[in-house]
Amino acid sequence: MLQKIQETADFIKSKVQVLPKTGIILGTGLGNLVTQLTEKLEIPYETIPNFPVSTVEGHSGKLIFGKLGDVNVLAMQGRFHYYEGYNMKEVTFPVRVMKALGIENLLVSNASGGMHPDFEIGDLMIITDHINTFPEHPLRGKNFNELGTRFPDMSEAYSKELIEKARAIAKRNNIKTVEGVYVGTSGPTFETPAEYKYFRIIGGDAVGMSTVPEVIVANHAGMKVFGMSIITDLGVEGKIVEVSHEEVQEVGNKAQPLMTQIMKELVAEIS
Ligand code: HPA
Repeated sequence: MLQKIQETADFIKSKVQVLPKTGIILGTGLGNLVTQLTEKLEIPYETIPNFPVSTVEGHSGKLIFGKLGDVNVLAMQGRFHYYEGYNMKEVTFPVRVMKALGIENLLVSNASGGMHPDFEIGDLMIITDHINTFPEHPLRGKNFNELGTRFPDMSEAYSKELIEKARAIAKRNNIKTVEGVYVGTSGPTFETPAEYKYFRIIGGDAVGMSTVPEVIVANHAGMKVFGMSIITDLGVEGKIVEVSHEEVQEVGNKAQPLMTQIMKELVAEIS
């Protein structure tokens, strides 16, 4: 694994002039951040050695180096979901490579079903913590001390400092945010009403099918993490209706500009 990470990082390094300190995983809600990047250099995943091979036909995604405002960033357009069939080492491989490239801050976004009774569809949730319910742990197996410690601390998986900054940014821009605990689950089914209730009881405010594996590995690697989630549907008793991927995307698209604004200002502040 160490050799693969190094090989991939070396390949990428040979293509870029400046190595950014901030990486962004563009999930739902941040797709259009790409349009704000300047001086772009795009590297399609299929050209990158050791990158997971896409399970969907067509474009699998790309790494995009560029400037967001004045700041150099590395954006990952398209993530690898566990439900697509990748194992956890594959899902999190790009985060390992980011670390090898010198990334120190990782910003992530996703869509989720809201379980907090006060949440509304379209809300932006600052992720304050997570609960991992994936059936496979990304750090299971031999630990490489070069990558991180055997038993990583997770007491501040999402940086309090970055949360504080994001709160202030949202406030001064008059953007409504909520905050809460993200439950990561394998999918691809959305939850039954009983499952939403269960995830609520165990302490979740929102549930989704991504992010937790990447955040675990980022913490293992000693990165600072910030995450936001768009509440695209509600898993609240009495408010549960049929949900589709299309609706999730539609709500996500509407909330995009606000989330992008927060991330953009956050990147400027931490650079
Ligand atoms: N459950 C799981 N994942 C999701 C949901 C949900 O309700 N909404 C968007 N992604």
